[in-house]
Amino acid sequence: MSGQQIRAGDWLMLSFPSANRDEAVFDDPFVFRPDRKPNPHLAFGYGAHVCLGQHLARMEMRIFFEEFFDRIEALELSGTPRRTISTFVGGVKSLPIRFAAA
Ligand code: HEM
Repeated sequence: MSGQQIRAGDWLMLSFPSANRDEAVFDDPFVFRPDRKPNPHLAFGYGAHVCLGQHLARMEMRIFFEEFFDRIEALELSGTPRRTISTFVGGVKSLPIRFAAA
């Protein structure tokens, strides 16, 4: 824990979004770069309680993007993205877009 002393009875807060922006782990930690390799993010947790559905979730996202990008010709932001307000599992809450169908 980076030399931090944790005493019995101390309260801790687990924050996956913070871990995913750890400057000791990621270059440009605040930049969304889906092509990072390796990409040791903790969006699905870690250790004994790592997400049991992560393979299904990855497959759903892959198939969604494959089908989506097959059907559109152009895509642009049409508003301000909003994120979930969470210290635990973060993500995009809404992402307004304008697109042209293929
Ligand atoms: C993008 C989608 C998903 C994200 C970001 C996500 C994220 C997470 C995270 C961070 C944890 C760890 C929680 C902790 O440390 O206590 C977790 C646990 C878990 N997830 Fe997911 N999850 C996703 C999708 C799914 C799906 C689709 C399923 C089931 C079909 C699922 C089932 C579970 C279960 C059962 C656990 C508890 C594992 C345990 O405590 O042993 N998740 N998930």
